[in-house]
Amino acid sequence: MAKFSDIKGFVFDLDGVITDTSVFHSQAWHQVADKVGAPWSKKLEDGLKGISRMDSLEMILKAGNLSDKYTDDQKVALATEKNTNYLKLVDQMTPDNILPGIKAFLDEIKDHGYLLSLASASKNAPKVLEKLQLTDYFPKIVDPKTLSKGKPDPEIYLKGAELIKLKPEQCIGVEDAAAGVASINAAGETSIGIGDKQTLKDADINFENTSEMTLANIQKQMA
Ligand code: BG6
Ligand code: MG
Repeated sequence: MAKFSDIKGFVFDLDGVITDTSVFHSQAWHQVADKVGAPWSKKLEDGLKGISRMDSLEMILKAGNLSDKYTDDQKVALATEKNTNYLKLVDQMTPDNILPGIKAFLDEIKDHGYLLSLASASKNAPKVLEKLQLTDYFPKIVDPKTLSKGKPDPEIYLKGAELIKLKPEQCIGVEDAAAGVASINAAGETSIGIGDKQTLKDADINFENTSEMTLANIQKQMA
């Protein structure tokens, strides 16, 4: 693991880290699974976290042995329907949807001069940040449209570091998904996993929930 004093920036995931939109994503995908007749499980729900829209749909169809049942156009229609339902939930969001301690942590790292970027797989990230009134904290956002591979590939976290002109070793990546932690680790950044220790067992540092994430707590766990 890198030394705490080497760290100059943070690369954040959004859904499930800054705000609990992962619940909204799950709710909207669950509707799709029910519609196509694919079985919904906690394992599938966790496995979808951090995964792009079309790849998520493929995972749901695969779980129901339905991958060949739909044409590409029908798949796009299903994914679009999911997104429409998801955006209805996003529309109701306010800054109250920011997860506990996150605003204070963003202020803390900004005040200490750390650089910040966003590495979310979501094409809706700018809209979610706007609803949370956090747009100004993230002038640098990786555009998922520019990615050739999604999480767990390192590409998104490498771009997150590049956007703030830092080496991966100078960055901490923050994630709630196993695929995201794998992406951070493969990029050579220090990983923080927020949530269940077992699910996120590959993270360098684990916090049960967002309110535990402070610079002092991170420093304690790094040399
Ligand atoms: C990730 C979420 O951040 O973004 C996934 O964890 C989601 O659940 C993915 O599928 C893509 O999001 P969107 O908003 O572009 O469909
Ligand atoms: Mg996430």
